[in-house]
Amino acid sequence: MSHPEANSTLREWTESAPYWERHGATIRAIFAPITRALIEEAGIVSGQSVLDVAGGPGEPSLSIAEAVGPTGSVACTDAVAEMVEAAEREAHRRGITNVSFRKCMADSLPFGDNSFDVVFSRLGGHVLSRHGYFSARDVARNKKGRSVGAGCMAEK
Ligand SMILES: C[S@@+](CC[C@H](N)C(=O)[O-])C[C@H]1O[C@@H](n2cnc3c(N)ncnc32)[C@H](O)[C@@H]1O
Repeated sequence: MSHPEANSTLREWTESAPYWERHGATIRAIFAPITRALIEEAGIVSGQSVLDVAGGPGEPSLSIAEAVGPTGSVACTDAVAEMVEAAEREAHRRGITNVSFRKCMADSLPFGDNSFDVVFSRLGGHVLSRHGYFSARDVARNKKGRSVGAGCMAEK
């Protein structure tokens, strides 16, 4: 990514990462009803593989990990290393092991086509689509399942 506005946006997210981590429990509680509704809307069930785009410091990835259970898996991705590191620490703290973590941009996801049953993003769509990085088509390319849990992107 070379766009100056995009670089400055990512700098802002990098600077805010410690606060997202520090207040993670509060943010998790505030958004729990939305997370539950999105998991239900996306039809996420035990055993599925789920991609979370712009997963921030670990939510909703870690809640989804609980929903898919030990036979399922979640790939938690974010463009900011500090967010990804915070997500890993939180997973470790909560003893959640069926999540993998990748630092990557939403417009260059390092996964093959049809790698996931569901692609999910909570509070990510408005940030990403504003810069034109992330479209429903990109998401669809990366799913093998019937539904996309596109939290707050309102795209299926
Ligand atoms: C509002 S936070 C949402 C975090 C999490 N999904 C949640 O619901 O709490 C937006 C996240 O998008 C990430 N982000 C911003 N631009 C991105 C991009 N181009 N690709 C991937 N992630 C990006 C930020 O680092 C930040 O963690």
